[in-house]
Amino acid sequence: MKVYLETYGCQMNEYDSELIRSILTSQNYELVQAKDSADVVLLNTCAIRENAHQKIYHRLDELKGQKRRGEIQVVGVLGCMAQNLRKDLPQAAPIVDLVAGPDSYKRLPHLIEAALDRDTVGFDFSLSEFETYSDIAPERVPGVNAWIAIMRGCDNFCTFCVVPYTRGRERSRSPESIVNEANSIVAQGFKQITLLGQNVNSYAHDGSDFADLMEHVAKVPGLPRVRFTSPHPKDFPRKLLHLISEYPNLCNHIHLPLQAGNDAVLERMNRTYTKKEFLDLVDEIRTIIPDVSLTTDVICGFCGESDDDFADTVEVMERVEFDSAFIFKYSERKNTIASRKYPDDVPDEVKTERVMQLNALQRGISRKRNQAEVGKTLEVLIETKSKKNDKEWLGRSDQNKGVVFSAAQKKPGDFAKVLITEASTNTLRGKLVNEAIHLPIVVNGH
Ligand code: 5AD
Ligand code: SF4
Repeated sequence: MKVYLETYGCQMNEYDSELIRSILTSQNYELVQAKDSADVVLLNTCAIRENAHQKIYHRLDELKGQKRRGEIQVVGVLGCMAQNLRKDLPQAAPIVDLVAGPDSYKRLPHLIEAALDRDTVGFDFSLSEFETYSDIAPERVPGVNAWIAIMRGCDNFCTFCVVPYTRGRERSRSPESIVNEANSIVAQGFKQITLLGQNVNSYAHDGSDFADLMEHVAKVPGLPRVRFTSPHPKDFPRKLLHLISEYPNLCNHIHLPLQAGNDAVLERMNRTYTKKEFLDLVDEIRTIIPDVSLTTDVICGFCGESDDDFADTVEVMERVEFDSAFIFKYSERKNTIASRKYPDDVPDEVKTERVMQLNALQRGISRKRNQAEVGKTLEVLIETKSKKNDKEWLGRSDQNKGVVFSAAQKKPGDFAKVLITEASTNTLRGKLVNEAIHLPIVVNGH
């Protein structure tokens, strides 16, 4: 049986798809790269905003013809949208034969069989308080970057967010299982590991917290780069800041989701920090790690956000000067606290206008922050060929900035010292520095 798996949404979903591949191949399913030759098509989906759902409905529409002609036997929807819509999904899209939420992947072989055998839909969207998939070795595509989910679920209940409903309660894996996975990733030749969790600050296992875990992973031999995403500003572990400044392989980049800059909006979002607390945290981070890069997420037009409230978000963005930012329109999600408690009352045009305003502001700030890198020599980890010119490489600096440069002898996974010569909003450009030049000059044997 041939399976084609498509992944949408965040890095956690990418990781889950690696688990799914591993679960299916161990049961004699063949995962194929070409969509045309598959018997089973699985979509691992996202539910974070309505446009994530729309994308999947559109994709299901495209698959209709193939299904009707009998080229595909089973169409399955997995992940957050599956969990969010459950039984409503096959009603909305009758082409769907299988629905499985994020804690049901071990049952996938059984669900596929059930969908093949019977003329009914195979369902499983029970959420577990214990499932961490620690016993499954993800099937990774060899490359430079690898992910490890250190925990699953979320107990924060930000009022706008669907994740506590799609991924269930928070549970952490043991540090031993994570460190073992990191060791095997290094043995497979990966150069960078990103630790993933919906809120990594809440990581807790038998007395170990997130900072302890980061220190264990930093000590894994032969691992040049470690990243993590995402922390919550309400309880960022100060110890972690010191570890990042101490350990060269803990990258100097923190993704710190702001969401909004106004205290009343933050309270309605249940973020449990104020504008001042956020700004103070940024100051503390920059004191301990002076060359840190900071990125963020912002939501525009959350319930009841007035022009004055929005002005506070603008002010925080201007004061902090993030290196880059993901800026979203608020999208009401089924089941969330906001959907029950607050009307989605900011008109769509106003949301769009605010997103455009913040994007324009951020583009200027990103360009300025990137231009400050010109003249520096950065250590770049090469990831792939540059999109525009396949004679050039695209790599990332320690601060997670994209760097384009040429170096005939290098390949993905290699490190290079690059002198930055140009900067735009999104990328840096530079020249390979001849590493030999930096060797100390030996005069008369000294
Ligand atoms: N509407 C818009 N953006 C959202 N996010 C989460 N939920 C919503 C929503 N309902 C954004 C947040 C989060 C990022 C992953 O997605 O900014 O940090
Ligand atoms: Fe990832 Fe959240 Fe989308 Fe689920 S809803 S795939 S956790 S971004």
